[in-house]
Amino acid sequence: MRTPFFRSYLCNDPALVKLVLKQRAPDFPKSERIRVGLKPLLGESVFISNGPLWAHQRRIIDPAFEGGRIRTVFPAMWDSGVAAVNRLMPLADGRPVEIEAQTSHVAMDVIFRTLFSVSIEHEIADAAFQAFREHQAAQPVANIAALLPLPKWLPRIHSRKTRMTARTIRGLIGELTEQRAKAIANGTAPDDLSTKIMTTEDPETGKRFNTEEMIDQVAIFFLAGHETSAAALSWALYLLARYPDWQEKVAAEALEAIDPDKIYFSALSKLRASRAVFRETMRLYPPVPMYVREAACSETFRGRKVKRGSQVILSPWHLHRHERLWERPDAFDPARFETPNGKECLRTAYIPFSAGPRVCPGSGFAMAEGPLILSLLVRAFRFDVIEGDEPVPVAHLTVRSADGIRLTLTPRISNDRKDGFK
Ligand code: HEM
Repeated sequence: MRTPFFRSYLCNDPALVKLVLKQRAPDFPKSERIRVGLKPLLGESVFISNGPLWAHQRRIIDPAFEGGRIRTVFPAMWDSGVAAVNRLMPLADGRPVEIEAQTSHVAMDVIFRTLFSVSIEHEIADAAFQAFREHQAAQPVANIAALLPLPKWLPRIHSRKTRMTARTIRGLIGELTEQRAKAIANGTAPDDLSTKIMTTEDPETGKRFNTEEMIDQVAIFFLAGHETSAAALSWALYLLARYPDWQEKVAAEALEAIDPDKIYFSALSKLRASRAVFRETMRLYPPVPMYVREAACSETFRGRKVKRGSQVILSPWHLHRHERLWERPDAFDPARFETPNGKECLRTAYIPFSAGPRVCPGSGFAMAEGPLILSLLVRAFRFDVIEGDEPVPVAHLTVRSADGIRLTLTPRISNDRKDGFK
């Protein structure tokens, strides 16, 4: 795209995507436009920082999301899934249920429970969730900053509402963070993600996050961790309603693998169909539709000059549906990843969590949370589409439906255990 002030290049060739995200990542930092767009809410968070500051932040954050830690937070994810089943049960009588609102609720609950050991019913958590919803409504298309044909030096105008909701959210996160700092000092803090992050020192500098820095990071965990998982879950439920054969597979597997009375981390590895569905959902509806970078120096891409400062855009939406790479790219086929083509593309043309040094630190977390919540929901309910009410995907901060996703729910579990779990 050419504008009077800058040019944007969309890279959709696996070799170029690899070059930008992995091989020469430092030469393609996060775009300044995106940083300015998200600053009121995220401050100097790891999502928008670059260079040594970013590296310092990742050295503190990454250990909290290592494989072993997922096991520690798994019971909290389970509790969120059970709470979601109990919330949905009174709505499972054949009336249309707006699914995106429900998956947002459960994904935010997961974040609060795993990060701060409180559920979404907690007073501050509930207020923060409401403020997030208002914030998203006030600033619906965050990526627009990357596409606006305006010079970089022009101050971005944030609406009063955006600044106000961002201030409210940061204030609430500040309260939670300060309470936690006190609990850590008293030796009474629970072993959750925020305690881990607040007590981890950067191995290179010995520094920890101070309160303000922690607020920046928690803001991105709330935003990146909740919007993305919610989007993936809502599209997964829609696809399962559209493809009942796969829904029955996921339901049968969940009934077999999940014992409602016991939380077993080992159940996760048995949820193979659910995992395949979640993965295929993120191929067709990647929650983050594009990644925006900036060329730090002049480049030549496939014989074309790319000037310093140009926008370089990686779009999983396009790469995941690339007709010369994927067999039947628009078909929903969770079994494709078992085929030679699916395996090859998984390695070279599948990037829902990005790739390289800036890969999503929450990918392992999300690949536990997504299949688990999906299985708990499909174990409890049959989801059906409402004919003629098709969701239309649009790129907001994440890939959402233009007008919500409505499905009907019917309980699958017997009447004597109507809540399925208690
Ligand atoms: C299905 C769920 C998720 C998806 C699809 C997803 C996807 C992504 C993607 C694509 C990026 C890179 C964006 C870019 O380079 O422009 C990213 C970054 C990030 N994600 Fe996730 N994410 C998910 C869940 C989570 C969770 C649960 C957390 C934490 C609780 C999280 C925390 C982050 C953070 C902190 C970054 C910034 C990393 C950096 O720039 O170094 N994400 N995510």
